Amino acid sequence: MATTAFNLQHQWLPFTPNRGFALDPRVLVAAEGLHFTTHDGRQVLDAISSLWCVGAGHNRRPISEAIKTQLDTLDYATAFQVSNDQACRAAERIAALAPGDLNKVLFCNSGSEAADTSLKVALAYHRARGEGHRTVFIGRERAYHGVGFGGMSVGGIPANRKAFGACLLPRVDHLRFIHDPVHHAFVRNQDPVWADDPLLELEQRLLPLHDPSNVAAVIVEPVAGSAGWYVPPKGYLQRLRQICDRHGILLIFDEVITGFGRLGTPFAADHFGVVPDMLNFAKGVTNGVIPLGGVVCRDGLYDAVMAAHRDAPEHAVEFFHGYTYSGHPVACAAAIATLDLYADEGLFARAAQMAPVLGDAMHAALPHLPHVVGLRTYGLAGAVELSPVPGLPGKRAFDVFMDCYRHGVLVRPAGENVVVCPAFTATPAQIDQIVAVLAAAIRRQA
Ligand SMILES: Cc1ncc(COP(=O)(O)O)c(C=O)c1O
Repeated sequence: MATTAFNLQHQWLPFTPNRGFALDPRVLVAAEGLHFTTHDGRQVLDAISSLWCVGAGHNRRPISEAIKTQLDTLDYATAFQVSNDQACRAAERIAALAPGDLNKVLFCNSGSEAADTSLKVALAYHRARGEGHRTVFIGRERAYHGVGFGGMSVGGIPANRKAFGACLLPRVDHLRFIHDPVHHAFVRNQDPVWADDPLLELEQRLLPLHDPSNVAAVIVEPVAGSAGWYVPPKGYLQRLRQICDRHGILLIFDEVITGFGRLGTPFAADHFGVVPDMLNFAKGVTNGVIPLGGVVCRDGLYDAVMAAHRDAPEHAVEFFHGYTYSGHPVACAAAIATLDLYADEGLFARAAQMAPVLGDAMHAALPHLPHVVGLRTYGLAGAVELSPVPGLPGKRAFDVFMDCYRHGVLVRPAGENVVVCPAFTATPAQIDQIVAVLAAAIRRQA
């Protein structure tokens, strides 16, 4: 049934070409399982878990029931000077799921806020230990850590930065990007083994340049998501951990995309066997249903900040940071229900099981199509890279995205890549449909 009772005049759409959208609107009015209903009454398969959020599929009753119950019990309570039972329980559950001694959860509302929160914790930690001179942050080229000024500064997607250059944080540097288009344009569910070591640059150029004693933290996405699903070379994250340890530098994993099952494990930290000092999360923690984000910190970070206040009066706040909605009870109730659902249905294992199904399907259908110059599948996600239309960056991927949408599948254009990352509940038949529609679109747009 068509639903056209909406006005397009007043919403300025995020990360969307607004002028084109007005000519050809794509408005969603309902969802169930892996499918949306559009305003013009069509079914569209959500092949991107609504931007990496909806691992359990849409409209899951245990989550919506928990939200309804919570709304009737404690709708909201301030987060400052008091807390609420749902926030305590959600923090306990997330800490239990996180590896190692990542035990202290600072809640926020989004991945962007998580990025800025983690950078601020790093500064507070070093200052608490008498190393307030450690203020350099190192991110990575083409990284995405959201749109706050901190996350944007350590992020490395040029288009996201270019209009805001003068206001980016000072004392930020970037590791080189983790992509080798000559030898590893095609990655099939395995860590690529690189001949050269991309982290030599950190050891031999960036750290000597800034002096390691000035560096507060390195922040990376374990697998580079928004740039188009780029996989680190084998051993990269282990080696990064060793370098940071050697120099007293904190290591932050931004797991906003990789957290909660995308690689078949709770976190990418588990998949790669590397425990960061902070782990940023959002999106999948509530199955996308209600905004919630956070940073899980190792015990030692919290302990150091508390220890620095050992002689302060008891009413003194130790860390001046937080959001009105930190630990919102309804969002936390949604998180608890989501974590229960992931466990009850074994959805992380299901993602691991479906990962090669997606990888095999994409590698069988896509590599030989026109303009395909790369294909990377890893965990339950894949990106096909297309050669750019000369002079029109991003146009080919955008055209393929639009073509897929018209043919009933929502994929994601990311630069010259088209990304798919379906819900963990996707069936082999749905994966085949996604890949078939994507292949046909690439051929049509050749
Ligand atoms: C790795 C990563 N960090 C941070 C963010 C920002 O999250 P949000 O859009 O919730 O602010 C994203 C969003 O896609 C992300 O992929």
